[in-house]
Amino acid sequence: MKYTNYSGFTEGMMKRIAVLTSGGDAPGMNAAIRATVRTGLSSGWEVFGVRNGYAGLIAGAIAPLGARDVGGIIQRGGTMLGSARCREFETEIGQLAALNQLRQRGIDGLVVIGGNGSQTGAHALSMLGFPVVGVASTIDNDLSGTDVTIGVTTAIDVALEAIDRLKVTGASHQRAFLIEVMGRKCGYLALMAGLAGGADSIVIPEQEADPERVAEDLRGAYASGKAHAIVVVAEGARNNGEQLGQYFHEHHERIGFDLRVTKLGHVQRGGAPGAYDRMLGTLFGAAATEQLAAGAHGVLVGMVKGEIATTPLAEVVANKKPLDLRLLELARMLAK
Ligand code: F6P
Repeated sequence: MKYTNYSGFTEGMMKRIAVLTSGGDAPGMNAAIRATVRTGLSSGWEVFGVRNGYAGLIAGAIAPLGARDVGGIIQRGGTMLGSARCREFETEIGQLAALNQLRQRGIDGLVVIGGNGSQTGAHALSMLGFPVVGVASTIDNDLSGTDVTIGVTTAIDVALEAIDRLKVTGASHQRAFLIEVMGRKCGYLALMAGLAGGADSIVIPEQEADPERVAEDLRGAYASGKAHAIVVVAEGARNNGEQLGQYFHEHHERIGFDLRVTKLGHVQRGGAPGAYDRMLGTLFGAAATEQLAAGAHGVLVGMVKGEIATTPLAEVVANKKPLDLRLLELARMLAK
C-alpha cells in the first residue's frame, strides 16, 4: 500500500465537513471514520458525524466530532456512527431534504463510507452539486473502482474460521458440509473463502453449478481419501444453501450422503477488524479528506493495483465489478 505525506490539507475553501457510514456495516469502518475526523481536524476544519447514514442526514442527526470522540474505536467492528438502509434517500425529495440539512449547517463536503447502494446515494448528492467523496467499504467487495473494500478481508477470515471448524467435525464423522456465506449478488466472498479454505466445491452466482455437479465434486473429495467434504456457497447463487440442502436431503440415498447446511449470515459482519482492514480504513479515510481539500467532487477512494486511487462515482455506479473466474478453476484443481 502506498500513501502520500499527510500533514493536514489546506488547499481549497473547505471549512466544515461531515462523515457518515451507510448500508451494511463492515469491520474497518471505524478506522475510516477516525482517519477522516482526525485528518479533517488537522486541516483546521470542523468535522461533523452523521448518525445512521442517509436516514440521519435527512433527519438532521448531525453533531460535531472531536479527536477524542473517535478515540478507542480503531479496533472495534461495526460503526460508531450507526448505519441504515434508507429508501427515502433513493427519492429526489429525500436527497433534497438531506442537501438542505447540509447547507443549513454550513457543511462544505461529505465523506460517505459504504458499498454499492451508499455510493449510488453519494453520486446522486454530487449530481445535485454537493462535494462528496466516497470510501469503498462493504464485506461483499462488489464495488467497481477498487480492487478491495474495507471489511472484506475480515469477513473472509470469519468464513475461514467456520470452514476450519466444520472440517474438524466433518472429519470425525466423514460428513459433508455446506457453508453459505454472504455477498448479496456477488460471489467474491464465497470464492475467496472457498479458495483459502480448501473447499471441494464452490457455488457462486457468476458461474452457477447444478446440484449434481456439487455432488460430483463432493464424491470426488471422498474418492481422493478425504474424511470430509466441504462446499462453500454464495447466498446470491440460484442454488443457495437452502436449495442445495433440500436437494441433497431428497436425493441422499442415490447420492450416497447427506449435506449439512450452515448459514453464516450476519456473523460475518461482526467482530473486530483485522490488520488489513484497519490499515485500509485508515488510508482510505485520510485520502478522502485529502480529496475534499483538493476540490474533488463525486469520486470514490479505493485501492487500484496496490495504490490508493480515485474513480468518478458516475463510473463506479455504472459498472459491474468483474470476478476472476480462473480462481474457481484453481480452487477446483487444488481441492484434489
Ligand atoms: O452488503 C452487505 C451485506 O451483508 C450483504 O452481504 C447481505 O446480503 C446484506 O448486506 C444483508 O443486509 P441486511 O443486513 O440489511 O439484512
